[in-house]
Amino acid sequence: MSAALVPAARTEAPMTPSAPADPRGAMPLVTVRGLRVAYDERPVLDGVDLDLFPGETVALLGASGSGKSTLMRSLTGFAPVASGSVRVAGHDVTNLRRGELRELRSETGQVFQQFNLIPRLSVLTNVLTGALRSAGPLNLIGGFSSAHRRRALALLDRVGIAHKAQDPARSLSGGQQQRVAIARALMQQPRLILADEPVASLDPKLAGSVLELLRDIAREDGIPVLVSLHVLPLALEYSDRIVGLRNGEMIISGRTSALDAAALAGLYETAAPDGEAHA
Ligand SMILES: Nc1ncnc2c1ncn2[C@@H]1O[C@H](COP(=O)(O)OP(=O)(O)O)[C@@H](O)[C@H]1O
Ligand SMILES: [Mg+2]
Repeated sequence: MSAALVPAARTEAPMTPSAPADPRGAMPLVTVRGLRVAYDERPVLDGVDLDLFPGETVALLGASGSGKSTLMRSLTGFAPVASGSVRVAGHDVTNLRRGELRELRSETGQVFQQFNLIPRLSVLTNVLTGALRSAGPLNLIGGFSSAHRRRALALLDRVGIAHKAQDPARSLSGGQQQRVAIARALMQQPRLILADEPVASLDPKLAGSVLELLRDIAREDGIPVLVSLHVLPLALEYSDRIVGLRNGEMIISGRTSALDAAALAGLYETAAPDGEAHA
């Protein structure tokens, strides 16, 4: 893993799921091997290997349609896996037991490009909805416990917008809304955070501050953050490792500090220019 840029298959494929491959000796929380996902028999991921270790931020790069969202969805049981193995926090995602899917999803905090907040509800209530995933369908009218409310406020403080707690979510800027979404994800006490193009709707300065927040969370809470990005400089600045997909194949996997820009540029060779619409 500490090697310079080398084809992913050579570095990661031979590793068994139980092999500690991280320099710190930690075990991966996520282990994907030989993942193939197909829609209507058309493969959109082919032979993907991925490890995510506690505390690291991994940037997922690739042109629009390269399979980034599909790879994220495969970690929460939302993609049609044709073959290969996906293990997340002890769950065998391709072979879940009854009730396990819900457990897996409650353990996975998700952040999206469009924030996915409930616009008319207060910031605080939006964060509290994160607790629904772990606590089950509470009665929203009955309200949340005071312990939940205290925790939600503490999380809003952590992401820097406690002063907005009572404001409707729709009144916040994009950067602030994404912070609410991150607080909501933390409300789940996640073991893993998946952020699918979380800064694609933000201007570059805000984008950096949101990515910095995600990286701090990964480090401080000791959880892996997988974040898809379509802007290379942001990936270089805010990730520990980069995984690159092209047409569903993983063509890059390495520590960010060891990757050179020329190799990364190859990710976009056959693709539409940067900045085009992405799924
Ligand atoms: N639900 C689906 N049904 C059929 N094809 C899909 C579906 N989701 C994604 N795809 C296809 O899979 C490929 C990868 O998509 P996606 O994972 O969204 O890529 P990215 O997030 O990198 O833009 C694309 O060709 C896309 O059209
Ligand atoms: Mg996508």
